[in-house]
Amino acid sequence: MKNEILRLLKKQSSGYLSGEEISSLLGVSRTAVWKHIKTLKAEGYIIDSQTKNGYRLIQVPDCLYPAEVREYLSTQVLGRELFYLPSVSSTNREAREKAEEGAEDGAVVLAEIQTAGRGRLGREWYSPAQTGLWMSVILRPEIVPADAPKLTLTAAVAVAEAVMTETGLNPGIKWPNDILLSRKKVCGILTEMKADMDRVHYVIVGIGLNISQENFPEDIRDIATSLTLEAEKKFNRAKIAGAVLNSLEKYYFKLINNDFGAIRNEWKRHSVNLGHKVSVNTLGEVIEGIAEDIDENGLLVVKEIGGSIKKITAGDVTLR
Ligand code: BTN
Repeated sequence: MKNEILRLLKKQSSGYLSGEEISSLLGVSRTAVWKHIKTLKAEGYIIDSQTKNGYRLIQVPDCLYPAEVREYLSTQVLGRELFYLPSVSSTNREAREKAEEGAEDGAVVLAEIQTAGRGRLGREWYSPAQTGLWMSVILRPEIVPADAPKLTLTAAVAVAEAVMTETGLNPGIKWPNDILLSRKKVCGILTEMKADMDRVHYVIVGIGLNISQENFPEDIRDIATSLTLEAEKKFNRAKIAGAVLNSLEKYYFKLINNDFGAIRNEWKRHSVNLGHKVSVNTLGEVIEGIAEDIDENGLLVVKEIGGSIKKITAGDVTLR
């Protein structure tokens, strides 16, 4: 009911809507309307209430409330189930719990702040309040575990496309899945999965996109950036969340319909590695050479100085 009232107020935001109109349109008492308006105000919606004219929505809060994100969703599967938490240790951790409890394919966990956001290779992920998109998507694809790295590349392509359409900026992808703007990281993706030898139970795709930070702590200032810093403007985080999910679903469907080729082409178009000298730290070993390609399984193909070809499944790439 609260969301229905919100929908009416949004439709009528150029003028006032009386309590009486709302109550007759929705078939609830005026007291109930008043109570829901009070809750909306407590959630940060600025609503002008006038005894004579009724209610008017003045401003929507900068929050990732499901009702806000849904406004921008055009998906069939992703976001059907949306879990919103004002604060969480890590959305990936929360998503794993939800997946264990049976959350469906495409369920999404969103938070305003993460108190223990996790990055790749055991690193921390800086996730301050109401500045970024801290989101984990639960996927249950019918793929073999060996194909899971493809999902990571799929997510990177999806985020790059959403960033491009929403901001007009031109992001690059550093293998496997760092999204860069001006050579600094604007988004990281942490893919975790539960699988048997021959079957994936679920995959958690954790996306950390820096949106409106205006500065970063000293230790990451030189390597991190946000959409606001790059575009010099503010963005609606709920709209960005919707765009990322729309784009992720589009590419996820390609993946499960055996069209990784299309994703690979997009990935290559955004790549900042291919054709460049790289140094890859993979399980303690350092491989140096030219990043030649990503293969049909999403592995990075590096040609070493002596000419030998190495295929890399996981690691950290430094651009030379
Ligand atoms: C990386 O190291 O580049 C990956 C960073 C991934 C961060 C996101 S934020 C949402 C999700 N929850 C987490 O704890 N981590 C991922």
